[in-house]
Amino acid sequence: MAARAGDTGGMDIAEQTISLPEWSPIIDAHMDSDEPIVNLVDDGQGTYDAIFIGGGAAGRFGSAYLKAAGGRPLVIDRWPFLGGSCPHQACVPHHLFSEAAALLDRERWLAGQLWFRPEGELRASILDVIEVFRRGRTAAHAFMNWQTKSQLEVEYILNAAARALDAHTVEVMGRRFQTRNIVLGIGARQKPLDLPGASLPGVFDFATLVEELDYEPHRCVIIGGSKVAVEYGSFFQAAGCQTTILTRSPLLRTANLHHVDEDVRRYVVDGMRQRGVEVIEGGSPVEIKGTDRVEAVIARGPDGEELHIECDFVFNGTGETPNSDLAVQWLGVKVGPHNEVVVDARMRTSVDGVYAVGDLIGAPMEMFKARKCGMTAARNIMGEPYEFDFSEYPDFLHTTYEMAWVGLTEAEARERHPNVVVIQMPPKGIGHDEVPLPLCEGTMLYGFLKPELTGFQKCVIDGDSRRVLGFHHVGYGAKDAFQYLDYLLRRPEGITIDEMGQMNELFLNPDHFIQLCRLRAGRQDLVDL
Ligand SMILES: Cc1cc2nc3c(=O)[nH]c(=O)nc-3n(C[C@H](O)[C@H](O)[C@H](O)COP(=O)(O)OP(=O)(O)OC[C@H]3O[C@@H](n4cnc5c(N)ncnc54)[C@H](O)[C@@H]3O)c2cc1C
Ligand SMILES: NC(=O)c1ccc[n+]([C@@H]2O[C@H](COP(=O)([O-])OP(=O)(O)OC[C@H]3O[C@@H](n4cnc5c(N)ncnc54)[C@H](OP(=O)(O)O)[C@@H]3O)[C@@H](O)[C@H]2O)c1
Repeated sequence: MAARAGDTGGMDIAEQTISLPEWSPIIDAHMDSDEPIVNLVDDGQGTYDAIFIGGGAAGRFGSAYLKAAGGRPLVIDRWPFLGGSCPHQACVPHHLFSEAAALLDRERWLAGQLWFRPEGELRASILDVIEVFRRGRTAAHAFMNWQTKSQLEVEYILNAAARALDAHTVEVMGRRFQTRNIVLGIGARQKPLDLPGASLPGVFDFATLVEELDYEPHRCVIIGGSKVAVEYGSFFQAAGCQTTILTRSPLLRTANLHHVDEDVRRYVVDGMRQRGVEVIEGGSPVEIKGTDRVEAVIARGPDGEELHIECDFVFNGTGETPNSDLAVQWLGVKVGPHNEVVVDARMRTSVDGVYAVGDLIGAPMEMFKARKCGMTAARNIMGEPYEFDFSEYPDFLHTTYEMAWVGLTEAEARERHPNVVVIQMPPKGIGHDEVPLPLCEGTMLYGFLKPELTGFQKCVIDGDSRRVLGFHHVGYGAKDAFQYLDYLLRRPEGITIDEMGQMNELFLNPDHFIQLCRLRAGRQDLVDL
């Protein structure tokens, strides 16, 4: 007979109704405690359909789907909340920082005009924004604990690390639980910098930044050249911390990011430079120097020259590695070249009855993939053969703008199709100094006061079939559209310029794609616009 939660020192909440406001103090109290939070039906007796180890995006959505489909899931997380790294250290703070960056950027460009305060009066603190996040982040955790128990009726054990003993037995809190299947969703972690000086105080990554930063940085060096480097670099610079990005590949030209159109990339990178970010492409770090805290990064420049970049803050944006070591140790699952647990399109690992989902199975490490992987595992466990192909998807990142894209770049399209037509804003050969376009919500003030800041957009079309091949956008407010554009673009019949032109737009819409397509849709022989 298994012990009750109380016998293992846990807080047994199975019979309690915990209201949403009551959750935050419970979570806060458990952040520095080992006491598990236990929500089990029948004290966890019997056999589960699936035990999800890891209650992040993948585990939480997978367990909820399995429950909704009539199964019995148990989800276990070592943190005292569900939702995982996204609301705790990754996406949510990133979005907060990016919003702060966009607001600060606007204040800087428009300083002294209209109601904007004069240049020099703007004071921003990275530490203050991080404090705001630290004080508020439990609200999301509380919601997920509450919803998962009270609305989704999923059993869970929180604040307790689990381990799989075999494909049907999971150990947690010193107890063993039986299951038909295990779903591993234990995420990924930041890759450490393999450099002398990398463990000096003052070296941070996305996770340690929100946990540990306790001073105001003034001079930053970021190592890496992908989303995290651009997003955090844009925030640091906008907050007034002079930032250098040291990237070995051209910024945003890295293996993890596909379909980044070169014109869009240029607009973004040039814009970052215009805002004062120093971007060193083709550079690599050699050493981090300092005594009590980092003082400089020594690097090799693009021509082999030695660079000495003084700083009080180093930020590691070199990407994440899946936590597959535990999965291998527990169950011997097969792992690929990037430490990812290898799965098929149904999320089945090399071990019968064991599934893996989310960041643990490697790139793309994105929320849509994590959530849908969890759901895919659940569907298959519940007897529905279901495959998830995430080789193509809509993508986005923040600078001080939103950059969103889906489908082929212009260059990719030209490699595959003989007759490529491009509709873009501003049109090819015309600069922002000649036309303040695209103009829409979020860029109206720029349109009239700083036309070069209104963003950039491009729609790539196969002139023969008239099908749209790709959409690309830098600006504000268009990101949402890309979720639906992705669907339209990738359904078997795709979407043509003519169908785009038939849609009912909400003028002024940020991406302009509908009205631009309408302007050309009347022509049989499509040409650029
Ligand atoms: C800085 C940053 C910003 C990002 N921004 C975005 C964004 O804007 N949009 C987007 O789509 N994606 C974004 N991502 C990616 C996104 O955060 C991840 O893809 C997503 O959170 C992965 O979910 P997951 O469930 O696979 O892993 P996680 O959320 O990391 O969950 C893994 C869980 O496993 C638990 N765990 C680990 N070991 C054990 C154990 N032994 N026992 C019990 N539990 C265990 C952990 O506590 C954790 O809760 C961002 C990533 C980073 C780093
Ligand atoms: N949707 C979002 O907005 C969002 C936001 C943030 C993060 N994420 C996800 O979170 C994950 C992590 O993002 P990320 O931007 O940190 O990583 P990433 O996309 O994996 O890119 C890593 C970057 O670091 C560089 N790099 C790797 N090892 C290095 C080394 N040893 N020395 C110097 N440079 C090195 C890479 O350069 P090379 O190109 O030369 O290899 C690349 O530029 C990604 O999967 C990303 O999609 C998503």
